[in-house]
Amino acid sequence: MLRWVWRAALVGILSIVVAGQAIAADEPWRDPGQPPGRRADELLAVMSFDQKVQLALGNFAAVAPFGVPALSSDDGPSGIRATGTTSFPSSQTLASTFDRGLARAYGGAIGAEARGKAFNWWLGPAMDIARTPLSGRQPENLGEDPFLAGETVAQEVAGAKSAHVIATLKHYVANNQEFGRIGFNQPGGGRSGGADSIVSQRALQEIYEAPFKRAIRESDADAVMCSYNRLNGPQTCEDSALLSDLKASGFNGFVAPDFLFAVKDPLAATLAGLDLPALGGPGGRTADMFTSGQVPAARLDDIVRRTLYAIFDSGAFDNPLGPAADDVSTPAHRALATRVSTDGMVLLKNDHHALPLSDGRVRSIAIIGPSGSDATYITGGSAGVTPDPSRTVTPLAGITGRAGSAVKVTAAQGSLGDAPLPTIVPGDDPGFQASYWNNGDLDGAPALTRTEPTIDLAAAPTGVGPLWSARWTGTVTPSQSGLYRFSLLQAGLATLYVDGRRVGPGYREAVQFIDGPFYPMQTQAVRLTAGRRVSIRVDYSSRAQLFGAQIHLAWAQASGIAAAVDAARHADVAIVMANNAQGEGMDRTTLALAGDQNALIDAVAAVNRRTIVVLNTGGPVLMPWLHRVDAVLETWYPGQQFGTALAGVLFGDSDPGGRLPITFPASDQQGPAPPTRPERYPGIDNVVHYDEGLLVGYRWYDATGQRPLFPFGYGLSYADFRFSGLQVSGDVATVRVTNTSHRAGSTVAQAYLSFPRSAGEPPRQLKGYAKVALGPGRSAVVSFRLDPADLATPGRYTLFVGSSSRDLPERASFDPATLGRGEHRAGTGRIRQGA
Ligand code: BGC
Repeated sequence: MLRWVWRAALVGILSIVVAGQAIAADEPWRDPGQPPGRRADELLAVMSFDQKVQLALGNFAAVAPFGVPALSSDDGPSGIRATGTTSFPSSQTLASTFDRGLARAYGGAIGAEARGKAFNWWLGPAMDIARTPLSGRQPENLGEDPFLAGETVAQEVAGAKSAHVIATLKHYVANNQEFGRIGFNQPGGGRSGGADSIVSQRALQEIYEAPFKRAIRESDADAVMCSYNRLNGPQTCEDSALLSDLKASGFNGFVAPDFLFAVKDPLAATLAGLDLPALGGPGGRTADMFTSGQVPAARLDDIVRRTLYAIFDSGAFDNPLGPAADDVSTPAHRALATRVSTDGMVLLKNDHHALPLSDGRVRSIAIIGPSGSDATYITGGSAGVTPDPSRTVTPLAGITGRAGSAVKVTAAQGSLGDAPLPTIVPGDDPGFQASYWNNGDLDGAPALTRTEPTIDLAAAPTGVGPLWSARWTGTVTPSQSGLYRFSLLQAGLATLYVDGRRVGPGYREAVQFIDGPFYPMQTQAVRLTAGRRVSIRVDYSSRAQLFGAQIHLAWAQASGIAAAVDAARHADVAIVMANNAQGEGMDRTTLALAGDQNALIDAVAAVNRRTIVVLNTGGPVLMPWLHRVDAVLETWYPGQQFGTALAGVLFGDSDPGGRLPITFPASDQQGPAPPTRPERYPGIDNVVHYDEGLLVGYRWYDATGQRPLFPFGYGLSYADFRFSGLQVSGDVATVRVTNTSHRAGSTVAQAYLSFPRSAGEPPRQLKGYAKVALGPGRSAVVSFRLDPADLATPGRYTLFVGSSSRDLPERASFDPATLGRGEHRAGTGRIRQGA
């Protein structure tokens, strides 16, 4: 305080002029030349108790006289969720680029669009580790590796800061599944606590917290969002040990909670270290908590100081927002979206030089599957940025435009993809026997039984609920023989049985989450015979629903396949687009592609060897047809520039730059949490045991010797590369990368460290990477600086370098006891081209 008085006096004598305006002697916090922490302290020192309380209640009007702007926030991790913004490729695509420069540009562009829309607080990026490939929110996260996620997010934060926007690291922490995340509806009303993640301290530190702390360390992130789930008991937003540790790790900004359900006890959360009470307004926090002394004055000061720090540090104070503009998407942002998409597309297979298409051999192309506006899948939920149709380039438009008039392009629908189907219409079958219970568990005597022609409810029948369950049994009779697919669209928990076979349990909080896609629960295709009745049973519980109970059973004949096969037979190349819907509020229950898509790919590949499968999925899928097709390209959810980016890669204008940020399992049974281990996923009684410890993602596959379909870090270029001459000297490793082909292209040099046995670490862990673009025949020397913190255990280490977690031709053993010190930041690769 004394220091401040002196400083104020000094400022008064000297008088400061900033941007032509004098800063009053008694308002030193307005001086942008000072460090943000000092400005926060200076302002805190002149605030009254009441002003502090008001700020702690989220009432920014109380501090407006000091020049402090109100915080205005918007989602989401892949672009600003508003009209007139750019629908960027998913964050997972960004992680696939393994490119720090693109990550910074992506954060900068999203920050600029946030500002343009009058938001100074961005509710992104997300960095929840992909612990299970079934997790719904993978598209908006950054894969399974904490180092890759942390490096990517640190750059995004730096980019957003350059646009004077507060970025939010979310969701803290161990928020790795949707199932049960906000708890379940309870009999007497209200909700149970969120899913309880039981995680060891070591796994928390090394895997789940690591990306957050890296972004804090490298980019001084200004905000962290605590999550919906519980962690080893308490809700994360009410866990004082967790939040104190976060704040002690050098985090200077504020902690804000996830929406509504993250805070069960506002006083406990305030005491534990929650700073902003809610994403807007006071949440359940009251002035009384402060005036009564329940919350100590030091905690109140901490809340205020952290909130102010973020506002000063991000530049939000010095750069007031203007009015929101209608259109904030720019040509540069759209070009960036295209670049992130091409550089994040992962070429998984390319036999017989099927790609690129620009070889003069291609005179005709059949595009099969959703290739129009039905192809532009976005992640559902708060991260969904609906593309502006007038600016969206569909795959069909992109490919047709690039192919030119010399190539004949035909489109055949083939499959609807992962979309809700038409509701079953009553035919000659007698309808469904419906039983309803006034509990969530089909328990006891039903409260209502009746016959219904369809299973098509947008609300509970009168007198049933609010928490309810139901069973329908009946038959449907197909009029034609062939493949059929069923879809359930429900908010809640549902299981479908076809002819006594359990074909799909499903979990959805809502049928449509905000403006994302509808979330159907698709079964695999089922072969049915004309006139033969098929028994149907559906069990449903409204326990999991969020915005209102609903359930709709639908079916359709997989009738598009024959026409698609015909188109493929007459084309030089068949491109089959396949997709799935996943996002917030829903996990998948299988890695299989939904509905008739596998059958479609099989049928097309049977008549056209040059079949190229384009996967537009939010996570790994199984590929039973892999050996029958020539090429597979994973595009993730690419946003509005899909068609431009896809055509660029297919025709070889751009190299497919992506490498997998997540392991693709060879079956649903692989990985640490197969269906036989429900305590690991989805949990039992909403308690989830992370007892695989550190063995997350590729770490599990390496430790157990499982062979995935495609490993972490994998992806092909159109060029070929060789790694040679790895040397470790002190803490610096150098390796030569040579493009041995006749094409320009890029690879990602990946460095994995193997620790001495006594460290108890997984077999190999990513500790450095660098994207290297090289012309034909060119080479470069990449040097990685290892992090001294990783070399603390005495003994011998081995560094492996190559192009994926399973292709590591270069290795070097070393003892760090004789360490020298490199100069560049640990983990980043320094590239000397032409060396
Ligand atoms: C999501 C957050 C999001 C928030 C506000 C929540 O349901 O989990 O990621 O920021 O909603 O939209």
